[in-house]
Amino acid sequence: MSETAELKIKGKAYQLPLVEGSIGDSGLDIRKLRAESGHITLDSGFGNTGACRSAITYIDGDKGILRYRGIPIEELAVKSTFVETSYLLIHGHLPTKQELEEFSDKLRYHSLIHEDMLHFYDGYPSTAHPMAILSSMVCSLSAYYPDSLDPKDPEQVEHLIPRVLSKIRTIAAYSYKKSIGQPVIYPKNALRYCENFLYMMFAVPSEPYEVDPEVAAALNMLLILHADHEQNCSTSTVRLVGSSDANLFASIAAGICALWGPKHGGANQAVVEMLEVIRKNGGDVKAAIAAAKDRDNPFRLMGFGHRVYKNFDPRAAVIKDLCDKLLSRLNLHDPLLDIAKRLEEEALNDPYFVDRKLFPNVDFYSGVLYRALNIPVNMYTVMFSLGRLPGWIAHWKEMHQEGDGRIGRPRQIYTGETKASYVPLSERV
Ligand code: CMC
Repeated sequence: MSETAELKIKGKAYQLPLVEGSIGDSGLDIRKLRAESGHITLDSGFGNTGACRSAITYIDGDKGILRYRGIPIEELAVKSTFVETSYLLIHGHLPTKQELEEFSDKLRYHSLIHEDMLHFYDGYPSTAHPMAILSSMVCSLSAYYPDSLDPKDPEQVEHLIPRVLSKIRTIAAYSYKKSIGQPVIYPKNALRYCENFLYMMFAVPSEPYEVDPEVAAALNMLLILHADHEQNCSTSTVRLVGSSDANLFASIAAGICALWGPKHGGANQAVVEMLEVIRKNGGDVKAAIAAAKDRDNPFRLMGFGHRVYKNFDPRAAVIKDLCDKLLSRLNLHDPLLDIAKRLEEEALNDPYFVDRKLFPNVDFYSGVLYRALNIPVNMYTVMFSLGRLPGWIAHWKEMHQEGDGRIGRPRQIYTGETKASYVPLSERV
């Protein structure tokens, strides 16, 4: 018989089966709790709630460990490519040579978007944030593939996956081109995934453009580091939306919106904006630390802290190292990197941050890296979205294949009026 935990409510005992994973947290299965006891659990922020079983990504936040399908992120960052890592996350194993070639061919084949979609860009104001454009364009993609949107049909899903990965890259690059008033650059399918993205971002029709291999390698690494992070806010959103059997494009568009917020993927933009303010104020990092500690000030040190990591975010460590190497190879000096390092040092020696186990997260150094790649600040969260695509797809697919098929629908503890009568307008005071 499997092990159980006993929960006593007002003297009555309830048995809760223990659920073990292969490593990491175990859980209490409370699925029958309400039916048997009339009680639910309350866990705002879901810090203690396992929403699913998943075999995709493992994190040990106390030890600073992150693994995709069991493989440490540090190893993938230096040995893999973003396309190979995407395959790994989505299909559950590293591809053979043939599988990788077939997958890459599909990504190449699907790189164009329907020409009509180009007109959409003209409707946005030039000041539109690229995340607003990205999310709505991704949802709009569903209008072009009405015959392959059934989440229950594995063939349709397989067909849709490379389209999602390839076309969203094109949409992202086009949104940048439109925002700066340049003509869109059609994808060049002889190029590899990251090179093709850089080409669409930075080439112009009037001049030749060569992708710098160092820049492409750095982008590859950055996207790998962002590729999945188990049940984070945007991935949980993709799963929740997907649980209603909404199509993959719609589910991912919702994930993009969730990622946009500054507590999540929007933090990379917020970090660089914060570093710029510090630079303009003479580089005083102590003032920023003091503001972050001040309870009466809503300011938070952007790029610091994490719900799961109570130790160094392993992605931040790789990105910091990459920053140093790339800037030196490109012979660049960025004063924001110096400020970031001083800010980190100051925070890591301050009891406020030490006691709360607040460390730099993935977003702390990624913005500095994007600057070195010439990517404009309002595109940083778009870059995060591109990186996170395989994770969203893998979770959406896993949920449909291995979940219990139930729609996601939390309950609540109601705190409002118990029962009230309608008061006519003329009698209201
Ligand atoms: N600056 C100052 N204080 C902080 C910070 C910060 N960046 N982060 C957390 N704290 C404090 C917080 O005020 C609280 O203090 P107290 O216990 O005295 O009330 C304590 O640390 C715990 O914070 P929390 O808000 O309960 O932690 P959380 O797990 O709910 O939030 C977080 C995690 C990432 C939203 C938060 O740390 C934060 O807002 N960080 C800044 C934004 C950021 O960098 N986000 C990127 C996250 S990593 C990439 C991603 O997920 O997209």
